[in-house]
Amino acid sequence: MKGIILAAGNGSRLYPASLPISKILLPVYDKPMIYYPITTLLLAGIKDILVISGPYDLDNFKRLLGDGSQLGVKFSYAIQETPKGIADSFIIGEDFIEDSSVALILGDNIFHGFGFSSMLKEVSKRKQGATVFGYQVQDPERFGVVEFDKNNNAISIEEKPKEPKSNYAITGLYFYDNCVVDYAKTLKPSQRGELEITDLNKIYLEKNKLTVEILGRGFAWLDTGTFESLLQAGNFVQSMEINTGMKIAAIEEVACRMGNITPNQLIELSKKYKQNGYGKYLEKVALSL
Ligand code: G1P
Repeated sequence: MKGIILAAGNGSRLYPASLPISKILLPVYDKPMIYYPITTLLLAGIKDILVISGPYDLDNFKRLLGDGSQLGVKFSYAIQETPKGIADSFIIGEDFIEDSSVALILGDNIFHGFGFSSMLKEVSKRKQGATVFGYQVQDPERFGVVEFDKNNNAISIEEKPKEPKSNYAITGLYFYDNCVVDYAKTLKPSQRGELEITDLNKIYLEKNKLTVEILGRGFAWLDTGTFESLLQAGNFVQSMEINTGMKIAAIEEVACRMGNITPNQLIELSKKYKQNGYGKYLEKVALSL
């Protein structure tokens, strides 16, 4: 399975903070935002990742992440020239995807919770259809919303409905079989001029090939779309990290725990940050493995 991180979009709701640099590179507490979606893909066992950036930020992403060999994975890069929508990722990524199944995560989506890794492992094994994740929110009208029948089967999906049929938002993490590329090509731009991921999910729903996994209430799906929510996400990460002594989304640690790199390689990586707590943490983890 391959993975795509959509890190394009101009992040204008965070201007001026995100004017000179992609929102996805802004820090969420102690690391750039993109470390969180990278972690999600690594936990799903994905090692071949395409980063789709806006035209101005590509070099920054490359400077941060390189070719991925330091994490035992491969990063490739592509540009989305204009914000043509989330589903456009599969058209941009067609040559990258080849005949694989593919997971897509939005660069600003932060997931954290017990049991997430095992859920991702299960979902990434599915050979056919699509899997998306539902999460209960206070303000479903801001998201794609899924409606369930009495037996918890998904029966409808709507993008930013004025009158949501449930409180379950569809998060920005999607798993698809290889049909997704062909389906994406059939989509027409919505009123806001974008190829909507919700329209793509509706195709799977109509074919009875959409699974919606629920992320329960002990789970954190954090928003970073406004000044307040970006700060809150940072505060959440800080408080979890201080309470537990463990870091969330330290990609070097995750790569090592997933077996992509050895503890010795992790020690080497930690040296780059040895002057701060991030580097000391990586070293401590490496010595414990
Ligand atoms: C997008 C999707 C929406 C989804 C959300 C998750 O919203 O269109 O269905 O619920 O991401 O972050 P947008 O970022 O386009 O507002």
